[in-house]
Amino acid sequence: MMTTDSLKKEIIRLKHEKHAVILGHYYQIDDIQELSDYIGDSLALAQEAQRTEAPIIVFCGVHFMAETAKILNPERKVLLPDVAASCSLAESCTGEDLRRFKQQHPGHYVVSYVNCSAAVKAESDLICTSGNAEQLINALPKDQKIIFAPDKNLGSYINYKTGRNMVLWDGVCTVHDQLEAEGILKLKQENPDALVVAHPECNAAVLAVSDFIGSTKAMLGYIEKSPCKRFIVSTESGILYEMRKNNPEKEFIAVSGKDTCSCLDCSYMKMNTLEKLYRCLRDETPEIEMDRDMIEKAKLPIVRMLDMSKQLGIIK
Ligand code: 13P
Ligand code: SF4
Repeated sequence: MMTTDSLKKEIIRLKHEKHAVILGHYYQIDDIQELSDYIGDSLALAQEAQRTEAPIIVFCGVHFMAETAKILNPERKVLLPDVAASCSLAESCTGEDLRRFKQQHPGHYVVSYVNCSAAVKAESDLICTSGNAEQLINALPKDQKIIFAPDKNLGSYINYKTGRNMVLWDGVCTVHDQLEAEGILKLKQENPDALVVAHPECNAAVLAVSDFIGSTKAMLGYIEKSPCKRFIVSTESGILYEMRKNNPEKEFIAVSGKDTCSCLDCSYMKMNTLEKLYRCLRDETPEIEMDRDMIEKAKLPIVRMLDMSKQLGIIK
């Protein structure tokens, strides 16, 4: 068995030899974040996937993210260390489900959260991420009827923020949705000087007791600017690596999962290991493969999202 150090050395060597780029999400294990050429939230990673000229993209995240990278860059080889790294939101709604839902709600514009399969994207008019959802929805005509899929928590938060009445698909992120307001309130009582930051995939009760709500990247920005020294972090534990790295003088209190005292981990995100990353680079598999027609259909709403995000000044 290879040691952690030798795995890291081999990954770096193979990456250079093959001119590959490693894109990593903030929820990856610390060692993978350390080796990534680019770390970001879903929006930043989609943009980086569109920009890169590397012939091989190793996507350290979950399947829908690697699929998005392939859709935006079909000429490149896109690898995912564990092809079974799924997402409860992506699994909650199939392309067929969304097609039926659309038939039940004629005349609605379909906005889908990026945490969905290519088949769902292909049925959508516009994709959003937690980093741009509010601004994109605000940019749509006020009287536009909208379906929002698949995250009902993000959807109801955006309804609240924008005053819309979007029809919501009944899906949740099982990682964030398990958090309960009582647990957060208890932590607040024990740490009265700490501010609560939360991801909008949390349920409404948790969001109601949070001081700041935003995507992983937005939370990082908020913490860096805040004069506060202590934070209760209501999101997946992987983010703590970047929070601690960027703010060594600040303290972070991780929330724990339901009925456990362990950290809030996304089991899908944590399926990627150093060993799998090494084998994936060495053997150039598992590779994301999609048919042309699906790529073309799913690409339209993603490119629309990126173009609108640039026009609105959310990304450069
Ligand atoms: P971000 O868009 O904030 O990166 O979130 C992705 C995700 O899967 C959150 O659970
Ligand atoms: Fe999906 Fe939730 Fe995991 Fe994000 S944290 S990948 S939304 S299951």
